Amino acid sequence: MNIIELDEVTSTNSYMADHAGSLPADTVVVAHSQTAGRGQRGNSWEAEPGKNLTFSLLLRPTSVTAVEQFLISRAVSVGIAQTLQQFTRGSEEVCIKWPNDIYVGAQKIAGILIENSLMGNMITRSIVGIGLNVNQLQFRSDAPNPVSVIHLRGQETPLRPLLEQVVESILGWVARLDNSEGREAVTRAYDSMLWRREGLHPYITADGEPFQAELIEIAPDGIMTLRDTDGKDRRFAFKEVHFVI
Ligand code: BTN
Repeated sequence: MNIIELDEVTSTNSYMADHAGSLPADTVVVAHSQTAGRGQRGNSWEAEPGKNLTFSLLLRPTSVTAVEQFLISRAVSVGIAQTLQQFTRGSEEVCIKWPNDIYVGAQKIAGILIENSLMGNMITRSIVGIGLNVNQLQFRSDAPNPVSVIHLRGQETPLRPLLEQVVESILGWVARLDNSEGREAVTRAYDSMLWRREGLHPYITADGEPFQAELIEIAPDGIMTLRDTDGKDRRFAFKEVHFVI
C-alpha cells in the first residue's frame, strides 16, 4: 500500500489534488492534523490532531461514466461501513446515511468527501476523502451527533492497522465496479446498509417544509425517492432534503 504520512496539512483532499499528477492510483495521503479539513456542503471537518483518521485515497477508475459516478460513493461507503461492522464485532449496527455518511445508531462516525475529475464522459480521477472518528472523546464544533470508535469499543484503537483495513476494504469494493455483477453486489450491499431504510421518518426540505416519509429507493444517479404520508413519491438530490435527527 502506498501511504504518504503527513504531520500537518490544510486538507488531505487538497494535497492530493495538488500532487495527483505524480502519484500512482490507490495512493493514500493521511494526516496527523488538518488545518482546514473540508466537509460536505462547504462545512469544515473537525478532528483532534492524532486522534482520528483523516485521509484521502486516489482512485483512477477506468469504467465509470459521469452519470454512474454515484457507484463510487456506494462502493466507498460500503467499504468503510463493513470494516467498522467487523471492528465493532457486529455489536452495533453500522449504517450508511444517504448519500454517504457512516452512522452508528443515530450518530455519525465517518464522513466522505469525493471530488471527481472528468475527461469526456468518463470519471478518470476520484479523490476520496475520509474522516473517521476513532479515539476522539469530545467534539467541540456544532457537528450535530458525532461518535467515535472508542465510544463503541471502550478502548483506544491504533490508527494505522485500521487505516490499512479500511483502504483494503474500499479498494475491494471499488474493484467490483468493473463488471455488472460486481456493480449489482455493490448496489445491493449499499441498499441493505441504508439508515432508516424501513418505516416512516421525519425529513425537512431545503425550503423548510417538514414531512414524514418512507424511503423507497436510491436511483443509480443517487437521487433518493421518499413516499410521504399522502402516498406521494418525492425525489430529492443531495442538499434538497435533510433527515431530521
Ligand atoms: C462530511 O462532511 O461528512 C465529509 C467529511 C470529509 C472529511 C475528510 S478528512 C480527510 C479529507 N480531507 C478533507 O479536507 N476532507 C476529507
